[in-house]
Amino acid sequence: MEPANAWSQPSAIDFYYKHRHEVSDLYPSERVFLPRVLFPGIKVLDVGCASGGFFNIMRTLEPAIDYTGIDIVETAIDLARQRYPEARFEVTDGEVIPFDDGTFDLVHCTSVLNNTPRYPEIWKEMYRVSNRFVLADMRLLKDIGGRGSEQDSRYTIQFEGQDQEAVVPYVVSDADEVISFLLNLNPRPQALRGTGYFHEVSELAITPYSQVCMSLLLVEKGSSATSRTKLDLQDLPLDFAVDPALVQ
Ligand SMILES: C[S@@+](CC[C@H](N)C(=O)[O-])C[C@H]1O[C@@H](n2cnc3c(N)ncnc32)[C@H](O)[C@@H]1O
Repeated sequence: MEPANAWSQPSAIDFYYKHRHEVSDLYPSERVFLPRVLFPGIKVLDVGCASGGFFNIMRTLEPAIDYTGIDIVETAIDLARQRYPEARFEVTDGEVIPFDDGTFDLVHCTSVLNNTPRYPEIWKEMYRVSNRFVLADMRLLKDIGGRGSEQDSRYTIQFEGQDQEAVVPYVVSDADEVISFLLNLNPRPQALRGTGYFHEVSELAITPYSQVCMSLLLVEKGSSATSRTKLDLQDLPLDFAVDPALVQ
């Protein structure tokens, strides 16, 4: 099943209509960077916004936000527009974002890159349309590059005991490959920060791994003059192998 169809299943729509609209719904790792990067007047793009819960979460943390949410599922966007008419919502794929370079101060994306093997395309687009921050989560593990395991991993969407089910990829990415990819974004980032923790894999997932590192990554955009990235991955429980020529 294509991802758009998977996330348009009634149980998924219903889950994201009822949950993830309040600050108290944030996962612990999501509470670290988000309050720090918001500021009055900030222009935010939320990629994979479902029915708009993060608009409410962000405006609770910072009332003066200019928010745009995008998602590939039309039903979710319709619900978001009805619930939050003061925000902007568009049916758009995060792989081809229809905004100019540097339009947003913050591009935010949670629980999306974990379900698509096409994370590089989405990261590149998010970085392009940002003028300052990109904040996104990924599942990371060391030394899994080239094993192609994500093609075999699946996650069954089945919320709160409801019958409707759909299956999406369960993507675990190689930690060093992801950090190397981010350090080589163009222009080179000014800073790359991370936080996260190991978490048991859900029993709804079919994957070779028993634990994965749930990681929030905050990239601060650089300029053509940026040659080295300030790296702060101390809060991630992984030892990264990073090219020393790229970081300060
Ligand atoms: C698991 S939900 C996450 C919702 C919300 N971001 C959160 O963290 O609670 C994933 C959402 O991302 C959307 N999505 C998946 N792939 C996408 C893509 N390539 N572009 C835009 N939205 C996408 C799905 O339709 C779904 O609504």
